[in-house]
Amino acid sequence: MGFIKKFGLWTEEQQEAARAVLARVGAEGLRTIRVSFVDQHGILCHCVIAMVELSGLANQLAALSLLLVGKTLVVNHVRNHFPLDTADSYLLIAGGIGVTPLVPMARELAARGADWSAVYCGHGAHTMAFREELTRVGGDRVSFVDTTVAPRPDLKELIGALAPGAVVYCCGPAGLLDAVTEICEAAGVRCETEHFSAATPDPDAAPGDEVELELRESGITVVADADTTLLQAIRDAGLDLESDCEEGYCGTCETRVLEGTPDHRDVVLSKAERAAGKTFFPCVSRACGRKLVLDL
Ligand code: FES
Repeated sequence: MGFIKKFGLWTEEQQEAARAVLARVGAEGLRTIRVSFVDQHGILCHCVIAMVELSGLANQLAALSLLLVGKTLVVNHVRNHFPLDTADSYLLIAGGIGVTPLVPMARELAARGADWSAVYCGHGAHTMAFREELTRVGGDRVSFVDTTVAPRPDLKELIGALAPGAVVYCCGPAGLLDAVTEICEAAGVRCETEHFSAATPDPDAAPGDEVELELRESGITVVADADTTLLQAIRDAGLDLESDCEEGYCGTCETRVLEGTPDHRDVVLSKAERAAGKTFFPCVSRACGRKLVLDL
C-alpha cells in the first residue's frame, strides 16, 4: 500500500500520524468505503478510502487515502445518483473532498457552454484537491475559499442571488448539506445534494414496527419484525437483492414501491422523490403503514 500523494491531501506529518494510528488500531480499526473519481486527465478511477477516527484531535474523522498498489480492484457497475440535469444556470458548492463529484460536472458544464459558477471551501489550501483542474476548467467562475484564512461564504447571499431556473449542486460535510438544503428550500431554489455517509440516527425516530411485504412479482408475502431490516426480510424470502452500504446512502438496494407509503430513512432521495413514494431503500427504510407492496 502507498499513500496517494498526488492530491496533496496529506502532509508528511499527517501521513506519519496516520501510520501511527494504523499501527495502533490494526485493520480492525478501519472502516473502508469505495469511491470513484475523475483524475486530472479525465480518467475515471476507483480506489478504497479507509476511515480512521483519530482520538485526541477533537473527534475529527480523518480520511486516509490508500492506494492498493499492484492489486486488482473489483469494481461493480457504476450507478449515478447525482446526475447533472438541464437547467438555466448552475451553482456548484463544494466542501472539502465533497468537490469530487462536482469536478466532472464543472467539466461538462464548461463543455456545454452553460451559465455556471462554483464555490469550493476547504480547511487549508493543501487539503483542497482538484484546484488546478477547476481553475483550468472554470477560470474565474470558480471561487476558492480557504477557511483557515478567509470567512466562510455567505450562502444565503449566494443562493439568493441566483436567477429563476437555477439549480444548486452541493457535496460536502453534513452541516454544509443541511445549510444549503434549508436555504434553497426557503428561497425556492432547486437543490441536489450528494452524501458520502449515512444520516445521523434520529433519537426520536419511531422504532421499526412490524411490516408486511408483498413481493408481487415473486408471489411471496413476508413479515419483517421490528428487529429485522426490510432488506433482510426480502433476502429471508429467498430473493437476492443487491446491497452495498446498508446504511441508506449508496442507493444500491433501490426498490420500486407499488402500494403503501414508505417511511424513508435514507439520504439518497430528494424531497420530491420522497413525497412521490415510488421507490425506497429497504436497507434502512420502513413503512408508514402496516404493509408495502414491492416490485420484486
Ligand atoms: S444498500 Fe446502500 S442504500 Fe441500501
